[in-house]
Amino acid sequence: MNNIVLIGFMGTGKSSVAKALEREYGYRLVDTDERIALIEGMSIAEIFKKKGEEGFRRLETELIKNELMGLSGVVISCGGGMPLKKENRKLLKSVGTVIWLKASAQEILKRLAGDTKRPLLACDNREAMVLSLMEERSPLYAEAANFEVVTDEKTPSQIAREIVGIVKNLSAHIGY
Ligand code: S3P
Repeated sequence: MNNIVLIGFMGTGKSSVAKALEREYGYRLVDTDERIALIEGMSIAEIFKKKGEEGFRRLETELIKNELMGLSGVVISCGGGMPLKKENRKLLKSVGTVIWLKASAQEILKRLAGDTKRPLLACDNREAMVLSLMEERSPLYAEAANFEVVTDEKTPSQIAREIVGIVKNLSAHIGY
């Protein structure tokens, strides 16, 4: 298996950390939103519009089962809602070592300021939305993850190094 699975709220740095893991440590990068958009031939915003959030969530589960389970030596950057379904929380752990990237609400709001691509943030009060989603999701991320890494005030390269350290330590212990 040998995979790293990055989960966490929108704006916690999953994509940039995954890119650093690809660039600096040779992992092949798979971005679940990109794969789903490619397979469906539509942007994530269009999928939400046409199939609803529930439809998008079904596509995320299908992607894990049809593509992610068979991979090796990859870093998977998951859409922020991937661990919402219990089934996905379980499946992700069988895909690889699941790392929860965490950031403060303040940092997340700063990073997402001006974003127009995320359908869940197309609302009047973005701050209230982020706070309520974070509260609702935190226990789910915690359940889905093997390890947590705080990303505030760290560069993607520093975070990538931290993650590689975790994974190496783990393989030294369990010998895989
Ligand atoms: C979502 C996060 C997005 C994307 C979709 C839904 C979420 O991915 O999958 O807009 O529910 O948190 P990022 O976390 O990469 O922004």
